[in-house]
Amino acid sequence: MISESPVPAVVPTGRMAGMEQPVLGLPGGLELRPWRLSDADVLVTAGRDPAIHRWNRLPEETPEGARRRIERMHERWRAERSAIWAVARPGREAMGLIGWGDIDLAGGSAEIVYWLLPAARGGGVAVEATKRLGEWALNDLGLHRLRLCHSVANPASCRVADKAGYSFEGTMRSALLHADGWHDQHLHALVQGDA
Ligand SMILES: CC(C)(COP(=O)(O)OP(=O)(O)OC[C@H]1O[C@@H](n2cnc3c(N)ncnc32)[C@H](O)[C@@H]1OP(=O)(O)O)[C@@H](O)C(=O)NCCC(=O)NCCS
Repeated sequence: MISESPVPAVVPTGRMAGMEQPVLGLPGGLELRPWRLSDADVLVTAGRDPAIHRWNRLPEETPEGARRRIERMHERWRAERSAIWAVARPGREAMGLIGWGDIDLAGGSAEIVYWLLPAARGGGVAVEATKRLGEWALNDLGLHRLRLCHSVANPASCRVADKAGYSFEGTMRSALLHADGWHDQHLHALVQGDA
């Protein structure tokens, strides 16, 4: 006899794989759109940026490795494991990355990841993109709880979380291993029904 979970899936399997990854508009004429193979050089540049290399643990890689990484983004959308967008001006190459990792459709949760190349920082783009992807994840995909986690040594990311409306829930001790050792992380979250 097959035993079924007494709790229904928050988002049914197949909902994400069955939809095209949308292009989402941002203020200031920017958009969130799927990564393209032609963005590979941006990933190579990002892997060499000290802050992205450090905080996102993005490896330095070759253009070929970067193209494979972009192909994996599309495979993972179809596998409903992650949902990663490029931040860009229409028709231009990417200036940043934002998206959902650790997607659990049945449990209704995911965790956001983001970075911007240095020239794109400081103008509120990360906050707007984080808000927009929160709306998409809660309203269009139907998730229930969205996490935003960052090292306690990364105050810019903490500010993004606060300004985008992700409530601070506590500090997770020794939560992520960075090159210089274990870092405590702040846990922020946005939950269905939050203002
Ligand atoms: C985190 C990151 C995406 C933020 O992008 P951004 O464009 O600077 O973000 P925004 O402009 O939307 O907002 C950043 C806020 O953080 C503040 N901030 C920036 N650096 C800061 C610092 N070192 N200490 C405290 N606050 C800081 C800014 O002043 C701004 O707040 P304000 O509008 O109240 O002045 C960007 O800095 C980045 O890509 N960093 C490297 C990778 C990274 O840290 N990724 C996140 C991993 S969890």
